[in-house]
Amino acid sequence: MYRTHTCGELRLSHTDKNVVLSGWISKQRDKGFVVWIDLRDRYGITQLVFDEERTSTDLLENTRKLGRETVIQVKGKVIERASKNPNLPTGDIEVLVTELTVLNEALLPPFTIEDETDGGEELRMQYRYLDIRRNPVKNNLIFRHKVTMEVRKYLSDQGFIEVETPYLIKSTPEGARDFLVPSRMNEGQFYALPQSPQTFKQLLMVGGMDKYFQIVKCFRDEDLRADRQPEFTQIDCEMAFVEQEDVLNAFEGLTKHLLKEIKGVEIESFPRMTFDDAMKRYGNDKPDIRFGMEFGELNQVAQHKDFNVFNSAELVVGLSVPGGNAFTRKEIDNLIDWVKRPQVGAKGMVYCRCNDDGSYKSSVDKFYDQDDLAHWAKVTGAETGDLILVLSGETNTTRSQLSALRMELAERLGLRKPDEFAPLWVVDFPLLELDGETGHYHAMHHPFTSPKPGQLELLDQDPGAVRANAYDLVLNGNEIGGGSIRIHDKETQAIMFKHLGFTQEEAKAQFGFLMDAFQYGAPPHGGIAFGLDRLVAILGGQETIRDFIAFPKNNSGRDVMIDAPATIDAAQLEELHLKLDLE
Ligand code: AMO
Repeated sequence: MYRTHTCGELRLSHTDKNVVLSGWISKQRDKGFVVWIDLRDRYGITQLVFDEERTSTDLLENTRKLGRETVIQVKGKVIERASKNPNLPTGDIEVLVTELTVLNEALLPPFTIEDETDGGEELRMQYRYLDIRRNPVKNNLIFRHKVTMEVRKYLSDQGFIEVETPYLIKSTPEGARDFLVPSRMNEGQFYALPQSPQTFKQLLMVGGMDKYFQIVKCFRDEDLRADRQPEFTQIDCEMAFVEQEDVLNAFEGLTKHLLKEIKGVEIESFPRMTFDDAMKRYGNDKPDIRFGMEFGELNQVAQHKDFNVFNSAELVVGLSVPGGNAFTRKEIDNLIDWVKRPQVGAKGMVYCRCNDDGSYKSSVDKFYDQDDLAHWAKVTGAETGDLILVLSGETNTTRSQLSALRMELAERLGLRKPDEFAPLWVVDFPLLELDGETGHYHAMHHPFTSPKPGQLELLDQDPGAVRANAYDLVLNGNEIGGGSIRIHDKETQAIMFKHLGFTQEEAKAQFGFLMDAFQYGAPPHGGIAFGLDRLVAILGGQETIRDFIAFPKNNSGRDVMIDAPATIDAAQLEELHLKLDLE
């Protein structure tokens, strides 16, 4: 038997017990006459003690030679510690070792296996298995397990059935590029890895499964960010015979359950906001509503003076920074530089201080008097002691610039508290989105999303105005889930494909199977998918999903540990009927 107890288990009540422990040497302290070892496993750390008085000379000498991270097994007796460590659950005891076996030696790790390590990101990714021994990473993985188990338990209790769908499929358009897999047995043909199980879950509804879920890997070849990985996990769900309201209620239930079970946070009901409202008030379709700083549109009160920058702008919009009048000139200049960075792209920024005596001081005093500025304050909700910041330009661009500024300010002012949770539903998304580059419309959510009742006719006249039965669940400024009520009849689906620029033949070739299925009694249906990695990270008070994935990819989509992607040899290429021409 390798062990009778784990390294996190022993307490004073075990005193005088003979125990066997196995684990990794975390630390070794040699005081000459006595040697202590911290033995670590997943469950914790137990102090081992060897001394000249009670330990055989051979054992003491051998112990001294052991390096960090060596895997050992020890036999010994639990004794009470002379100097206790209140920071350790096992800190009242130590194990006086009588026998030690080296189970495996270890090279010196390339970084320290401590909560605060000296290893950089790249190095830790290369030796991820060592990184996983560290508490922050280990605890994140355990946390993820806990969330996943709660999800499975809750959905299963609600009558959802987990069904697996295939990974080797045909393209599912979710807006990213596909990862492709060449087929050896079908020359010149490729599978696509699913960007989501979208079409399969709809087919499960046609199949009468009624309530489906799956915790499932999805693959998207897109540019990576802190909240994006090329392979990530969804909690994918679909329900038959539902309207939007039913889906929102069902998954508000799941989210409330998770917040309560995992974080002890109870939230009555989630606010709802239309897409248009979110864009107007926060410049963003995933607003962080834990703090204010809502936008105030200033066209009415700031145009038609002599300030040409504002007069020529489609939108003049500002926000009030609480307590921002305390910012120094240098701090304000720094914010102006910040919005002018290419990543944000504003040409400049106007500011107005709301002084403690009730007066205003703006960077455009030449054009605006105290009454004008008082109007600005009213529209942006600014009070004495605040700072009004104003951007102007093309509506969508300006909104997104001010939104970026709002988030940056919230970060700098410590308003994005990791332990505060503010979920909301964003509803009534546009059905179609104009692609600036190609000038074509594409589905904002995906092509299977149904327009709001009565809006199908509008598709011909004003495609951009059509609203969809689509919704996102937003948590603390992150899109953690998105879904829609689906089209479930062949005719409507055909109209959608036509508007998305598919010829009839193309639609049939790519989605004929779905259109066929719709002719065999497809029930009305709808669903949602949560990004599990994002959900777990945010519940864990963070936003970088990499930290909650055991073996993530880096920003170039590489796994630096196994060194993937990698070239393949000529024979393999030939077998797959592929020729590479890299010139
Ligand atoms: P959508 O494309 O909105 O919807 O994806 C659902 C959720 O998945 C998460 N997500 C990601 N997480 C990490 N890395 C990525 N690259 C990534 N891409 C998306 C987000 C997102 O909200 N089939 C539809 C769902 C439906 O209509 O039911 C779908 O996939 O949290």
